[in-house]
Amino acid sequence: MGIAYFEKDRIFKLDTLHTSYLIGIVDEEGFLGHIYYGKKVSGHELGYLLRTDEPPFVPSRNERDRLSFLDKFPMEYPVHGTGDFREAALRVRSKEGHKACTLAYASHEIFSGKKAIQGLPASFAGEGSCATLEITCRDAHLGMEVVLSYSVFEEEDVIARHVEVVNRGAEGFCLEKVASMSLDMDNRGFTALTLHGAWARECHMQRRALGKGYQGIVSRRGISGHQDHPFMALMAADATRESGEVYGVQLVYSGNYEVRAEVGQFDTVRWQIGLESEDFSWTLEPGERFAAPEALLTYSHRGLEGMTHSYHDFIRRHIIRGKYRDRKRPILINNWEATYFDFDTEKLLSIAREASKLGIEMLVMDDGWFGNRRDEHRSLGDWRVNEEKLKGGLPYLVQEVNRLGMKFGIWFEPEMVSPDSDLYRAHPDWAIAVPGRTPSMARGQYVLDLSRREVVDCVWDQVEAVLKSANVEYVKWDMNRPLCDLGSLGLPAGRQGELAHRYMLGVYELQERLVTRFPDILLENCSSGGGRFDAGMLYYSPQIWCSDDTDAIERLAIQEGTALIYPLSAIGAHVSDCPNHAVGRSTPFETRGYVALAGTFGYELDVTRIPQEDRDIIPAQVALYHKYNDLIREGDYYRIASAAETHLYDCWQVVSGDRGESLVTWIQVLCGPGRQSHMVRLKGLEPCARYRVEGAGEEPIEVSGDALMYAGLRIPDRKGDFVGMLFYLVRV
Ligand code: GLA
Repeated sequence: MGIAYFEKDRIFKLDTLHTSYLIGIVDEEGFLGHIYYGKKVSGHELGYLLRTDEPPFVPSRNERDRLSFLDKFPMEYPVHGTGDFREAALRVRSKEGHKACTLAYASHEIFSGKKAIQGLPASFAGEGSCATLEITCRDAHLGMEVVLSYSVFEEEDVIARHVEVVNRGAEGFCLEKVASMSLDMDNRGFTALTLHGAWARECHMQRRALGKGYQGIVSRRGISGHQDHPFMALMAADATRESGEVYGVQLVYSGNYEVRAEVGQFDTVRWQIGLESEDFSWTLEPGERFAAPEALLTYSHRGLEGMTHSYHDFIRRHIIRGKYRDRKRPILINNWEATYFDFDTEKLLSIAREASKLGIEMLVMDDGWFGNRRDEHRSLGDWRVNEEKLKGGLPYLVQEVNRLGMKFGIWFEPEMVSPDSDLYRAHPDWAIAVPGRTPSMARGQYVLDLSRREVVDCVWDQVEAVLKSANVEYVKWDMNRPLCDLGSLGLPAGRQGELAHRYMLGVYELQERLVTRFPDILLENCSSGGGRFDAGMLYYSPQIWCSDDTDAIERLAIQEGTALIYPLSAIGAHVSDCPNHAVGRSTPFETRGYVALAGTFGYELDVTRIPQEDRDIIPAQVALYHKYNDLIREGDYYRIASAAETHLYDCWQVVSGDRGESLVTWIQVLCGPGRQSHMVRLKGLEPCARYRVEGAGEEPIEVSGDALMYAGLRIPDRKGDFVGMLFYLVRV
């Protein structure tokens, strides 16, 4: 087991394959101190790192300078209002309105495996080694118990942390902030790396050196958002893509969050992730318990690459569930960019007929099939098939699609309501709004108040009825606007601050019902592209549509950023038509295929109308998918070159676990005169093995792994815009 308690020294030690994490109990009062997190160390005698034998000493030795101790000590889970003036992880308001709080160690428990977190997505033990430490701390004055939980996943070098607060007292109190994790460390010249973006420009990597004081990212949108991800890496001064120390943290959560780093007066860093705290409050009555979302913490001494590998393996093994977790997903064709709202049964079947001939395996009917939905201004909430468009209803359409040997999938946006809908006319109070104020619309729609049970049940009944009515094998669950005007008729005045989190609990409950009731359905989440791409959503759906921008060149940065922390198997990527609908650019059909292969793969175009020469390429792309998808889904991903840095080309590689196979994708972004071939240095191969390399239409060659890694693979010069090449390596 990766967890030990050394009673004499009062030290906990958590070990993974390559990392150690140490916590100490200090002084008679039982302060919990953070000793160390980093590269694996032997022994546990690291208590000196807490500096308790230096002035101002611990309070039992120097009560006069208690404040100096509290404001300096590396706290494992800092609280507000009693003398630690740095950012608190926990802020509580008592019934009398006071905010002072203390936490003292009370007890602990170590067990193998891991508990579920009530109502929230979270990692699970699955196969492999996992053990959990629960440390219970108390504030005797409030009668509050805080349980700090650490699940240690040895093979993946991940520690999953979360926090539960229990009211064991006689009076209610109000939680104003409950961070999921806090980590105090000495600053090592850290740079923060986050995934910044916008609609159709998600996940661009953003680096900034930590300055003194307080900095971070936040979402107040009710969704994790296009703008940032609930993730941050701290890179030590010398860290690069391949080397140096990198800490990563991400939240298994899809709503409001904050990630903060505070550089203090002694050049220490306090790092936190958790629920966004300004808009949050939660009343805990006696006997009640509150669970904060889970944070996934990792440390790599192999640069960003080590962090990426840990997160990919972890998410594939301990977050994603269900039938499709380890399986090839059907190659789908989605009609959104093909028809938008303008389709009927015959149009869909014409696409399906052509697609089935080319090897495409599933037709997905996107927005526009329900109520009176002829544009984006109406009918969300009325999940009844529009039989004027779909003559014969859903059963007929699905039956005809199945007859072609294809599966059928459908789009929903269950969290929404259009003002022009039967649902809204019947229940105007079901939309999130502040009584007396007209809420702001976005995309012509309001958000349903999923903190209310009757709303969740009504949405579920409608979705379930549609899914039961025909052989639906895939659902695209969309969410196309953020939350604002937060007000719920289901909550009393003192609990309005609970709405955003209760809303997420409602969404999670709906998705849990869906995957439980229909375990064979492949669920794909979406939020205007990547507006809610996070580990929380991946607990319900093995894949998420990562951007509404389907342009192959724009997708390079988007998919590079997404793949920094999420596995390729989770990244929704399709081949679309040109000029691209989002940016107007034209790229070769082959290149579009190579980029989409580094994700779930599918098509988003009218296959009956694209040029014949493009259509002719589809069977070959389908064959590539079948040949390489196991490798892409399960292999180790390496970033070789980034167009943002080279300005000439982008290159990535996937290597099988046994290093016997590898796939290299190279995409040119800029061409010019005086070009020559490029050498790209590969990674992850077995140095002494020989590999047969085929690709780019050239004669296969045999080269040693070390030559490919240290000298490089030669990428031939090809003329043309946005040329793409694929190289397949197999050990001989
Ligand atoms: C969002 C999605 C698109 C499409 C439309 C339909 O924008 O990201 O893929 O489903 O909604 O309205």
